Amino acid sequence: MTDSHSVTLTNKTTEKSFDMPVLSGTIGPDVVDIRTLQAQSGMFTYDPGFISTASCSSSITYIDGDEGVLLYRGYPIEQLAEQCTFLEVCYLLLNGELPDKKQLDSFTRNITMHTMVHDQLTNFFKGFRRDAHPMAVMVGIVGALSAFYHDSLDVKSKHDRDLSALRLLAKVPTIVAMCHKYSSGLPFMYPKNKLTYVENFMWMMHGTPCEDYQQNSVLVRALERILILHADHEQNASTSTVRLAGSSGANPFACITAGIACLWGAAHGGANEAVLKMLEQIGDVSQIDTYIKRAKDKNDNFRLMGFGHRVYKNYDPRAKLMRETCHEVLTELGLHDDKLFKLALELERIALEDEYFVAKKLYPNVDFYSGIVLRALGIPTNMFTAIFAMGRTVGWIAHWDEMISDPEQKIGRPRQLYKGAVKRNVTPISTR
Ligand code: CMC
Repeated sequence: MTDSHSVTLTNKTTEKSFDMPVLSGTIGPDVVDIRTLQAQSGMFTYDPGFISTASCSSSITYIDGDEGVLLYRGYPIEQLAEQCTFLEVCYLLLNGELPDKKQLDSFTRNITMHTMVHDQLTNFFKGFRRDAHPMAVMVGIVGALSAFYHDSLDVKSKHDRDLSALRLLAKVPTIVAMCHKYSSGLPFMYPKNKLTYVENFMWMMHGTPCEDYQQNSVLVRALERILILHADHEQNASTSTVRLAGSSGANPFACITAGIACLWGAAHGGANEAVLKMLEQIGDVSQIDTYIKRAKDKNDNFRLMGFGHRVYKNYDPRAKLMRETCHEVLTELGLHDDKLFKLALELERIALEDEYFVAKKLYPNVDFYSGIVLRALGIPTNMFTAIFAMGRTVGWIAHWDEMISDPEQKIGRPRQLYKGAVKRNVTPISTR
């Protein structure tokens, strides 16, 4: 960051002015550095939802929402999605550079060596109802990891942070698959180290002890793409949650669990599940107009799930790639005639032409299509957000690690505009 110029804020009431430095990144908008504002003026800034606030500096991911650009460590998402595996992208996000063959082999071997979970962890599942939402189980089980891996919890040690990162990347897919098996009443499947990361996940999800499981390369590649497209997205709600949790020195397993909890919400990672539920609710192409009208009605809280994005106001580059994958998967499985898929494509067409959606720049986001692909991959709807969490784990870890290593890092502690009662005295209960 360079301190190129400054801006002056003037309080018109007191006629006092304050100079604030302007900082420039390598690309993207400049930021006004307001760190001394409170000391100079006694005032805070007010920005609910962080619409105009850069909460940190970061070198991991860059988004230009107007141009539909998404870069991981400088590389366009389109090139990564087309040319790399998920583990190459993980290495890139964690280390800043793409791996060479030797580095990738060693990284893959290290991940593979950590895919099993402590056997006692399986007991935790039995404490959950079989019909519990998988994200509720994920929050419990991933949170419990810090009770098992005491030897990698010193957040100041790079060795411990790297070991925790490997453990999380390796074990989260195993836990996601276990959540599915538990809710289906099926036996847990142990990881198979001869398989790739994604093949292994497909095996743990869909395999059973009594049948051979046939991998389908189109489906494996589709899931690989889902994971790549969800791997990171700069300071989104769950990543900011992980950073905030980590800013107090909490251990990585606890911080990633905080991210999983935040991701669950329907406005964030829960959207892919909400898309499928919405399509089921709409039910038939003939009902689309009714639901489009409801989405536009200010007095109705119905929203078209899978449409709109806080940052992307022209198109979501991930959605473009996911749409492509969606068609590949539907073709491979001969599902183009499926009622729900036809409904989704028609909804997409109508919303893209509708004046309200066009004027508000509400385009289909990645989760509109990822839900459709996941359904085609045979993944139950209530598992969709857990798959998102599996992809995003690497992004959360990269941001957590970057934050811990940042010499400017401080515990996150926002302030507020207080609008409550002014100071008053407690009266005895008999007189209230
Ligand atoms: N359907 C109907 N109207 C919408 C929608 C929608 N999906 N999204 C936004 N609007 C309207 C909203 O009512 C508001 O109208 P007005 O200006 O008249 O009050 C306007 O568009 C701006 O909406 P906002 O909620 O202020 O925008 P935001 O940037 O705070 O919210 C969003 C972004 C993603 C939360 C929102 O678009 C939404 O709820 N979308 C549906 C949920 C969804 O698909 N989320 C997944 C996001 S992609 C995955 C991820 O990265 O987590």
